Amino acid sequence: MYSEKVMDHFQNPRNVGEIEDASGVGTVGNAKCGDIMRIYLDIDDDQVIRDCKFKTFGCGAAVATSSMATELVKGKTVQEALEVTNKAVMDALDGLPPVKVHCSLLAEEAIHAALWDYAEKNQIKIEGLEKPKTDIHEGEEEEEEEY
Ligand code: FES
Repeated sequence: MYSEKVMDHFQNPRNVGEIEDASGVGTVGNAKCGDIMRIYLDIDDDQVIRDCKFKTFGCGAAVATSSMATELVKGKTVQEALEVTNKAVMDALDGLPPVKVHCSLLAEEAIHAALWDYAEKNQIKIEGLEKPKTDIHEGEEEEEEEY
């Protein structure tokens, strides 16, 4: 059911942990399954992501997608990091079963939420970045979404 890459990233997740004084932190959750993901970004003055760590309280696919997402955004500029969509993460993992697609969406949203946090702190605008809907810091009602 799961690709070898998914199993590998689930069993040996990369970049687990926290970054102290992170440039941006994003926490998102999925109301249906209750899973929560937090991503920390360390971004340098050239807007390049030097480091990225995550903490995920969630299913195996959520752990694997967070792990892969952190690997993919490292070394990218904040603009390039927007290209790390849930599809890109799934492709890098050689796919996910259809019922697990929403887990990869959580990774994309967590990156966007962390980038949004960074942009707000530095009062910059990242072209194409929209305000994350499920950032838990915002305390907004989580919306029903179709995945
Ligand atoms: Fe919810 Fe995977 S089941 S993130």
